[in-house]
Amino acid sequence: MSYIFDMVKYISKFVFLLLFIPLATQAAEVGFQPAVASAHPLATQAGIEILEQGGNAFDAAVAVSAALAVVEPYGSGLGGGGFWLLHIAKDRVDVMLDGRERAPLAANRDMYLYDKGNVIPGASINGPLAAGIPGTVAALEQLSKKYGSLPFSTTLAPAIAYARDGFVVDEHYRRMAGHRLTALQRSDAADIFLSDDLVPEVGELIKQSDLAASLELITKQGAKAFYTGELAEQMVASVKEHGGIWSMEDLAEYKVVERFPEVIVYKGMRLVAASLPSSGGMALAEILNMLSFYEIERMKPVDRIHLLVEVMRRAYRDRAEHMGDPDFVDVPAGLLTSSVYTNKLIQSIDRDKATPSAELKAVAEPTGNGADTTHFSIIDAEGNRVSATMSINYPFGSGFVAEGTGILLNDEMDDFSAKPGVPNVYGLVGAEANAIEPGKRMLSSMSPSFLETHDRIAILGTPGGSRIITMVLLAMLDFYQGGDAESMVNLGRFHHQYLPDKISFEPGVFDQAVVKELSKMGHQLEAMSNRYGNMQVVVANKKTGKVEAASDSRGLGQARVLH
Ligand code: GLY
Repeated sequence: MSYIFDMVKYISKFVFLLLFIPLATQAAEVGFQPAVASAHPLATQAGIEILEQGGNAFDAAVAVSAALAVVEPYGSGLGGGGFWLLHIAKDRVDVMLDGRERAPLAANRDMYLYDKGNVIPGASINGPLAAGIPGTVAALEQLSKKYGSLPFSTTLAPAIAYARDGFVVDEHYRRMAGHRLTALQRSDAADIFLSDDLVPEVGELIKQSDLAASLELITKQGAKAFYTGELAEQMVASVKEHGGIWSMEDLAEYKVVERFPEVIVYKGMRLVAASLPSSGGMALAEILNMLSFYEIERMKPVDRIHLLVEVMRRAYRDRAEHMGDPDFVDVPAGLLTSSVYTNKLIQSIDRDKATPSAELKAVAEPTGNGADTTHFSIIDAEGNRVSATMSINYPFGSGFVAEGTGILLNDEMDDFSAKPGVPNVYGLVGAEANAIEPGKRMLSSMSPSFLETHDRIAILGTPGGSRIITMVLLAMLDFYQGGDAESMVNLGRFHHQYLPDKISFEPGVFDQAVVKELSKMGHQLEAMSNRYGNMQVVVANKKTGKVEAASDSRGLGQARVLH
């Protein structure tokens, strides 16, 4: 394998550059029906209000992001980060705003290890030591000032109202809070998100007056309130007091990065996806490059599933070994997406038999699961589009609220590889490329994406930790075969991530005959007890301007189209 790497490394640099040139998308022939799909009805409402007030998709995205930070505190927030994929219609350009968290400057590669080198359980998940330096507020300011047309006083108003007046607890909130109860009980979070230190009942109101005040300060002073002002001082003091390592310099130095997204053309369909430090676009590129050698559309279901699993396995193997923050590590991006390498990968696929992951490359046997994060998709009348996936990582992030700010901090440091080969909370393993370094962004799986064929556009994405990439893949293949927004979000899901070496699948997705045949081919299978993901999709017809939107039936979100 290293021979192949050396051979194409030089050539692949040029291929890599070509891949990152943003291709011009076709213009819409008519105006589009504006639409928003998000994981919470109040967030969708916030986006729709902004569109109705004359805001563009980017203004609506600010409003939806801020609203989700309030009403889905378990999924994303001001104390977290994300990737906002933008399509600027007038310039026909796609841009990714990278508002991913980065490691504090005092971080070091062994910070979650005992002296003997073993990982300290929970250290990268609970409390302020688990928190990376947040990027959401900086990203929202950039989105608003550079691409939007309305001020924060308008776009943050719905979120402020939700924080001040409260939102109603639902079953999903209860499940998430129950899952993270112990972490929440340890800080100011208990007073805000729990009721007498316990999970609140369905129907109770969660009011966040400190968060409302923080949002108001950001409205008046901009992101500097968060990165150098009063909020920065409060957060740093609180983090330090409770064992964290943030400094004022960490916050002051934080910068949003505008990156070219990953652009892949698959059998005539154009995919624009999140680039590194998200592994999503690169993994999807590898997968689609392999799939383009097969006619999967005509395959028997079992053969199709087997092939999809084998390409997933290989892409996730490369994710574990090679991917990390491109500002810190030399990711062989061009190589991984080159035709020479793709050829080598497909030669290793046996059409009748599973390849044991251990035969590809042994790293470690992971455990664990779990997922939260959030996603929304927006289009406006001009065809501007936003696909944004945002996170504070594990449900309710680190469970730590910085005193007096109402800001719940992320535990995104767990997305680094605390020790090469040792799995994180999503069971993902990593290596040197994703080791902790001061100021480095941790590798992500968040995959906000756009799809475009000759007549349709799709805006899609989902939460779901390590499974995000394969959910986007399945929805994308469905869209390619003519699937609509409803079909894309409600598709049955299955997943393979190299390690653990098993196919996990949603209840009822494979029948007994399929399970039997896949087992005969050598696959390990795990029937899951729950469905997973929460996909939000907008699909637009380029000729008629007609738009459909759908929110995953697994979640409680809402999709709305303006007529
Ligand atoms: N925190 C989940 C991800 O970024 O992949």
